[in-house]
Amino acid sequence: MRLTILGGGGFRLPLVYGALLGDHEKGRVTDVVLYDVDGRRAAAMARVLADQAAGVPDAPRVTVAGTLDESLRGADFVFSAIRVGGAAGRAADERVALAEGVLGQETVGAGGIAYGLRTVPVAEEIARRVAEVAPDAWVINFTNPAGLVTEAMSRVLGGRVIGICDSPVGLARRVSRVLGVDPEAAWPDYAGLNHLGWLRGLRVAGRDELPRLLADPALLGSFEEGRLFGPEWIRSLGAVPNEYLHYYYFNRETVAAYRAAERTRGAFLQEQQDTFHRALADPAAPALATWDRVRAEREASYMAHNREAAGAGERDAADLESGGYERVALALMRAIAHDRRATLVLNVPGRGALPGLDADAVVEVPCVVDANGAHPVAVSPLPDHAMGLVCAVKAVEREVLAAAAGGSRARAVSAFALHPLVDSVTVARRLVDAYTAVHPGLAYLR
Ligand code: G6P
Ligand code: MN
Repeated sequence: MRLTILGGGGFRLPLVYGALLGDHEKGRVTDVVLYDVDGRRAAAMARVLADQAAGVPDAPRVTVAGTLDESLRGADFVFSAIRVGGAAGRAADERVALAEGVLGQETVGAGGIAYGLRTVPVAEEIARRVAEVAPDAWVINFTNPAGLVTEAMSRVLGGRVIGICDSPVGLARRVSRVLGVDPEAAWPDYAGLNHLGWLRGLRVAGRDELPRLLADPALLGSFEEGRLFGPEWIRSLGAVPNEYLHYYYFNRETVAAYRAAERTRGAFLQEQQDTFHRALADPAAPALATWDRVRAEREASYMAHNREAAGAGERDAADLESGGYERVALALMRAIAHDRRATLVLNVPGRGALPGLDADAVVEVPCVVDANGAHPVAVSPLPDHAMGLVCAVKAVEREVLAAAAGGSRARAVSAFALHPLVDSVTVARRLVDAYTAVHPGLAYLR
């Protein structure tokens, strides 16, 4: 089986390859093809993968393709994990928004809209190339903003593209852990959009275990989301929010903390990446050990300013290990390739699964997966406050898609202006001006 990874120079690639190395089943991935617009970065990552494969006799073969089409030919699965504009682009997304006093973050608020506007045209082009060159391949989209990008690609590929994120599974795992239940045996009643969802229940053998957590402030204060949001707010919501909702519920505090920070997350990661690639310029440098050191630093500092603003302290050791993306991706690939039914929280067109949104709207809900793809499971409606946010943000995503389709600056302004975390149309206009000035990838907006 052949797996193509677009964004093959991406930093989290070794997590995926590590998961593949642990798979010795029949029908496993035997060939990995990397493609990255920056061939040097793909080559550096290939060195890390070679270190990982040392001593593993059935390690999947890794090759680096020279062009997108070449990488896609013969692919059974395509992981799309690109970052349009690179870390520098992310840093600019964050910086421009923060300078206007609104949230500058990779996927949420103004920063996420700018990232979406840059990424949608590129993702659509990839989808068209897949449809042409590898029409039978399944595309698993990791590219952020994942819900929006998956919706853009699904307009070309239909049900052949499935979006994934590690945050719902991470949340369900943490809640399972504090409740002392086996996460594999638990059914998460999770619903919303990507990075905008709520865990309303956790069913084990027909029983909802979540009320036990909601009733116990000490338990609630003992894991990441509990510390970020505080037991009292979680009890008021009656659900555990995805960590990304911290940007909504504590917007003022996070914006203040992000503005006070010496550099943005993107700028920090840019520096980290530069250090990594500089180290690997030495052909004798230990690629895997260098990568692992950089990775540990990255994981430990994830959402550090939010945790600081909330007084949440350090991340739990258990949250620092991997087990996010790569596990979901592998489980998804297996379920499809071996027609082995699995339930995973994924990003797919809702087809009515989440009442209140149209059929084509990509939502993040539990899905039953088999050889025919991911089938969203109907969930109970969200309460009004949550549905209000979901509808507002989906409307923003649709403005981004319209702006990209028509090259329309006016629709881009609407996308920013309609976002709940952008507080003025004037600010939205200035954001479009400032983003088009720094991002060559937005030159298409007229
Ligand atoms: C989580 C989210 C991803 C996001 C990442 C950012 O894993 O689910 O969608 O890209 O965090 O982490 P970073 O280390 O890049 O700030
Ligand atoms: Mn995510």
